[in-house]
Amino acid sequence: MRHLLSISDLNKSDAIVILDTATELARVSDGQVKKLPTLRGRTIVNLFAEDSTRTRISFEAAAKRLSADVINFSAKGSSISKGESLKDTAMTLQAMGADAVVIRHSASGAPQRLADSQWMTGSVINAGDGTHEHPSQALLDAFTIRKHLGKGGPDLAGLKVAIVGDVLHSRVARSNVLLLNLLGAHVTLVAPPTLLPVGVESWPAKVSYDLDEVISQVDAVMMLRVQQERMNDLFFPNAREYSRYFGLNSQRLAMMQPHAIIMHPGPMNRGLEIAAEVADSARSVIVEQVANGVSIRMAILYVLLAGAPLEAGSN
Ligand code: CP
Repeated sequence: MRHLLSISDLNKSDAIVILDTATELARVSDGQVKKLPTLRGRTIVNLFAEDSTRTRISFEAAAKRLSADVINFSAKGSSISKGESLKDTAMTLQAMGADAVVIRHSASGAPQRLADSQWMTGSVINAGDGTHEHPSQALLDAFTIRKHLGKGGPDLAGLKVAIVGDVLHSRVARSNVLLLNLLGAHVTLVAPPTLLPVGVESWPAKVSYDLDEVISQVDAVMMLRVQQERMNDLFFPNAREYSRYFGLNSQRLAMMQPHAIIMHPGPMNRGLEIAAEVADSARSVIVEQVANGVSIRMAILYVLLAGAPLEAGSN
């Protein structure tokens, strides 16, 4: 595997190799010596042409824990803000000897364009492109679900997951549906009809408009951010109405199974898709998702750049 552009680049055993490698790397991070020399002398560029906190910082931490040299590069403050093209940016990175580019871009398909081009020879990792995909987020979500709810097997066979909210604008939802399905979980999308994409019937997931009906049946509920910055139309009457029908509040938390977990990729709109007391409750694994993001992103860099999975107990 050279690039990670979409979950559809992975088969089940590729996905499990990344999850297992992340498990081993998390053990290293928990130990006294947090760094591995694996990527010493390699250069990783974080090219963020769209805002990010979690993904950008965790890819940087992951690369540093593998001893890579890291160049952080955001649109603001770079020549991208002067209108420099993706091609010229990529050729500049190639000239600097980048072994991998982690790219976030508002245009769906920008990472694929980079990978298909002759502009650079390194690996391309999609850190979120438009409304298309966010594969490293889906992998960290699957890692978190496996850690809490896995039944000892390598996959997520039989687990039920609800993905709730603004599916239309969510690259997280698309990547998660693909990966959870690949790993054997059953996904239900819950959203108002206006926030579901055209063609959702062909996704490997059920669709429901009734959160109260679904909430008591699932092992994990993944709330999605309402992406107001991508909305140029009225998709629901008002915030209060949205919260009433699709928000996760204390009443709905009480309806969940005792073992069920609450997830959110962040950043959250507290009080809109999730109540503050639910986000901060004992059932929430939202902060843990962020920590797991470092282990997963270490595993992605390890598998793409070192070319081999880390064997259990080899560190
Ligand atoms: N989940 C996620 O992609 O968060 P950031 O936008 O902060 O990277």
